[in-house]
Amino acid sequence: MTQEKRTILVTSALPYANGPIHIGHLVEYIQTDIWARFQKLRGHHCLYVCADDAHGTPIMLRARQQGITPEALIAQSSQEHQADFADFGIAFDNYHSTHSEENRRFSELIFERNQAGGHITSRTITQAYDAQENMFLPDRFIKGECPRCGAPDQYGDNCEVCGATYAPTELKNAVSAISGTTPVERETEHLFFKLTDFEDMLKQWIKAGHLQPEVAHKVEEWFSEGLQEWGISRDAPYFGFEIPGHPDKFFYVWMDAPIGYMASFRNLCDRTEGLDFEHYWGRASTTELYHFIGKDIINFHALFWPAMLRGADFRTPTAIFAHGFLTVDGQKMSKSRGTFIKARTYLDHLNPEYLRYYFAAKLGSGVDDIDLNLEDFVARVNSDLVGKVVNIASRCAGFINKRFAGRLADECTEPGLYRSFVDEGNDIAEQYENREFGHALRKIMALADRANQYIDANKPWVLAKQPDQEQTVQAVCSVGLNLFRVLMTYLQPVLPVMAAEVERFLNLPAMTWDAIESPLSAHTITAFKPLMTRVEGEKIEAMLDESKESLGSTEAAAKASSAVLQQDPIADTISYEDFAKVDLRIARITHAAHVEGADKLLQLTLDIGGETRTVYAGIKSAYTPETLEGKLTVMVANLAPRKMRFGVSEGMVLAAGPGGSELFVLHPDAGAQPGMRVK
Ligand code: MSP
Ligand code: ZN
Repeated sequence: MTQEKRTILVTSALPYANGPIHIGHLVEYIQTDIWARFQKLRGHHCLYVCADDAHGTPIMLRARQQGITPEALIAQSSQEHQADFADFGIAFDNYHSTHSEENRRFSELIFERNQAGGHITSRTITQAYDAQENMFLPDRFIKGECPRCGAPDQYGDNCEVCGATYAPTELKNAVSAISGTTPVERETEHLFFKLTDFEDMLKQWIKAGHLQPEVAHKVEEWFSEGLQEWGISRDAPYFGFEIPGHPDKFFYVWMDAPIGYMASFRNLCDRTEGLDFEHYWGRASTTELYHFIGKDIINFHALFWPAMLRGADFRTPTAIFAHGFLTVDGQKMSKSRGTFIKARTYLDHLNPEYLRYYFAAKLGSGVDDIDLNLEDFVARVNSDLVGKVVNIASRCAGFINKRFAGRLADECTEPGLYRSFVDEGNDIAEQYENREFGHALRKIMALADRANQYIDANKPWVLAKQPDQEQTVQAVCSVGLNLFRVLMTYLQPVLPVMAAEVERFLNLPAMTWDAIESPLSAHTITAFKPLMTRVEGEKIEAMLDESKESLGSTEAAAKASSAVLQQDPIADTISYEDFAKVDLRIARITHAAHVEGADKLLQLTLDIGGETRTVYAGIKSAYTPETLEGKLTVMVANLAPRKMRFGVSEGMVLAAGPGGSELFVLHPDAGAQPGMRVK
């Protein structure tokens, strides 16, 4: 198993300092942590760094809202984030902040080198300005009515209801989300990074295989739409770094955020003997550099970041590994459904290694979304980890401890079986290396099945009753524990806490992939304690209840619903004749699909009893297509067809809620039939 020792630097995206870590984030940190731990277990030199992303308008405003300084806010977030990560077993080698001296230095350096290379320009643009707050408004802080469909309370540059995209200046009756006043247009000069200077370089870089195929494809689409210059400055007031030579202009948060990877590593170098920054980040570096990110931030990592690095004469990443988004029971995480689960809330109820295992079982190398199906979660953890893996040890340890004073047999009586477990290691390692964790775990569980079959076939509990079979009992249980040790070594990247407990129980130094080459014999183990208990359904219920922010108690629910009425007062009365004009029908959603290029829309095919309608509904932020198919709903059947950007919409389905993930499609009671008129 000798292999060349690699030098690897791994990062996860830097979480924003204005909110808590939630289980969606954890997909990424768990994925990265497993991969980094795997590399270490294989004996490579691997470092995993991260930091809080501490800059930007939302953080400035959040601090203001809480009546504290941004510095105090980010200090508190940093502590909470690090505690959450530590409790989930995420083992960073360093955790830093983008609001740090290292990051200021590198941001200035990268800016200045790009400027010297002629890659920065400036020009005057018109932007919405809040004259009461004396600040320019980022898109997401402007709200108004959709210029196309008139839906109220639409933020920024697209409509959640009809899917229109537009400039924020086109919103009707626009107001600042901060002060509520009408924004004015004001000119301001900004700095731009000339991404276009790097078009050839990026095309080559992408061809060279640094991206997953589907990501490369997406990026090529952006090329064909034409690269744009990228605005990298923001006006004061802003929480960030002032740009050298440009008073009152600050680096845009996304300019200095990826530089935070370097800053965190630099900070580690300063505290670690012999760790050389240049060796990792210099233009000629031969070390490996990987960024794990979510699919929402690909443009920043696959376009701007490599270009800025090249423009500043640093190395570019070896690869960007993007993953998909987490859904819970097939739907976007939702506060009212209780599935917007904070890391801390999870930890208060459940063992973090359950989630590490479940995510790992679901993770592959692609960018598909991954679903946490809570029923499946319980079933899989209980059957795989408790029922298969832990079971091997608990069936063997008692006999060895009680009858043989913890001593394993002098030799392994099943060298062939043992060897076959070790031989699977190469394949399993390859799956881990390729981030096919689901495949790796399936192989490991197949081995666990074989180990259990071996124990079943030899029945130590029967042999134990036969005085002349003493030695066989010891031999069988020793084989069982040796196989268990191999499995736990393979599982160590996923279940580090359980693996550490196994090291204690088997009385072993820290596991390594190479150490399993030969089985343990004439080795003394220590007391066995239960390694993992079953997931209890009630704990999950309790966790969901606690996560239901506004609807947790009836009192809160009442408060929330009266708040809803206040924000959205009952409309003027209409005559019965007006109401009778609306033809509401029961419809079955026979098919639901994503709409290419639309952020908010799903295309629904509705059966209204002998007639089929196509409706575009702005519900993508709350539903995945699969969860809707087959369901009944209510539709407005006589709404005049509307031509939308993606096709003609022949009616509307009824849904309630403010929007985003808080949107609820109405379903009739069972018994209603497609086509029935709703009265
Ligand atoms: N601050 C930026 C990243 C800067 S990197 C130089 C950011 N922060 S974030 O807190 O919004 O997200 C951090 C990471 O978590 C991102 O990679 C993001 O894709 C990921 N996820 C956030 N929510 C997620 C899900 N619901 N599901 C899976 N990953 C998610 O983006
Ligand atoms: Zn609209």
